Amino acid sequence: MTTEAFRLTSPDGKETELPVHTGTVGPAVIDVGKLYKEQGVFTYDPGFVSTGSCESDITYIDGEQGVLMYRGYPVEQLAAHSSFIEVCYLLLNGELPTADELDQFDHTIRTHTMLNEGMLNFFKGFRYDAHPMAMLSAVVGSMSAYYHDTMDVHNAEHRDIFAHRIVAKLPTIAAAAYKLNIGQPFMYPRNDLKYCENFLQMLFSVPAEPYEIDPVAAEALDLLFILHADHEQNCSTSTVRMAGSSGANPYSAIAAGISALWGPAHGGANEAVLKMLWEIGDASQIPKFVAKAKDKDDAFRLMGFGHRVYKSFDPRATIIRDMCHKVLNQLGHNDAPMFELALELEQVALRDEYFIEKNLYPNVDFYSGIIYRALGIPTSMFTVMFAIGRAVGWTAHWREMIADPHGKISRPRQLYTGAPERNYVPVGER
Ligand code: SDX
Repeated sequence: MTTEAFRLTSPDGKETELPVHTGTVGPAVIDVGKLYKEQGVFTYDPGFVSTGSCESDITYIDGEQGVLMYRGYPVEQLAAHSSFIEVCYLLLNGELPTADELDQFDHTIRTHTMLNEGMLNFFKGFRYDAHPMAMLSAVVGSMSAYYHDTMDVHNAEHRDIFAHRIVAKLPTIAAAAYKLNIGQPFMYPRNDLKYCENFLQMLFSVPAEPYEIDPVAAEALDLLFILHADHEQNCSTSTVRMAGSSGANPYSAIAAGISALWGPAHGGANEAVLKMLWEIGDASQIPKFVAKAKDKDDAFRLMGFGHRVYKSFDPRATIIRDMCHKVLNQLGHNDAPMFELALELEQVALRDEYFIEKNLYPNVDFYSGIIYRALGIPTSMFTVMFAIGRAVGWTAHWREMIADPHGKISRPRQLYTGAPERNYVPVGER
């Protein structure tokens, strides 16, 4: 909805009226679309700190109040009452499913978990110690080589099939990468199992003996996938939107999102948190590392702290911290000291003036790695776990972007600070 406007007057007195659009909730936006045409200048916002890239109905975040809603439902309520499969339906379709709709969606996902058998050959080509994120982005990108029969981005049925394949097949690809890393045989998915139970058996079962699925582990995974499912226009989601805006096939757009997520400033932080906790070692070393994090001359940052949007607390971190307690108490794991160290680090940082002044609180990545380790998942797989949860969010945003009748290719401009025009100098005269 468009309300009053901002009037911009240039230094030489030229006026431009910039419309203001307001959404359901949250900050309004100033539409600067005609700024260059009327004033000959660009806006400038490196990292897009104050820039809205699109209109979206999917997820809302309030960084000051620590609010996160998927399609209007607070994440706390979904974490308490829903399931990851139901949240996938909600994010993809905009409404909670009826019982029949949920059964049908669950059946569709369960019956699309297998990969084209030829895709398994990719894993024979990777080094045994290839990083699972490298394998995930490569194999997801290769889906456009296998499923080219359903990549008409303007065909709604193709868009549905793509969405089901991404949700259904990512755990299978992730488990295959893990099995390669540990030298065990790939375990096929089973349609009789629920989403997280199936993933656990693909990760941890072996042909040599029966595997008993721990319900606490399945419950913890389901919660973590819900909490990671979407997060507005974060770096990886914006990457998927930008890649998809050129009309590239959706599998390639998702593969681009996986690559963006891998960075330690983004989804790679959960892996970096555990490495940091190991490096800190024990509580006596916390002051030294907090001091490093505050030192402007030291590139070290406290992994799992801070957020571009949340300047109060990340509601996901609070929920995950509570699940940490439950998992470590019930599964019993020698990582309890690691969890204790994380709790102590959190308390020290939250009392420190620097972290208070800069609104640096634990984010979603601070505790998730401790749960993953308690479930027996290695650090190298942590960002893969993030990708499995976030894939449905990427897919929902890609669908929203591609269905936008006013959509156009994303092509930002720049402030040029390079050399002025100059003439070529032959190499003998340089
Ligand atoms: C995720 O966008 C999303 O929604 C992401 C995500 C999602 O669900 O998709 O929530 C998932 O990526 C969570 C973030 C995981 N990353 C980390 O935990 C890495 C550590 N955090 C930092 O790298 C940082 O906090 C960011 C990248 C998360 C946010 O950085 P911003 O918003 O660009 O803020 P900034 O870098 O400008 O920092 C503001 C100030 C700076 O100091 P000054 O220059 O103002 O003096 O705070 C400092 C920073 O130096 N700071 C930190 C810090 N994070 C910011 N100082 C020490 N330790 C930190 N962790």
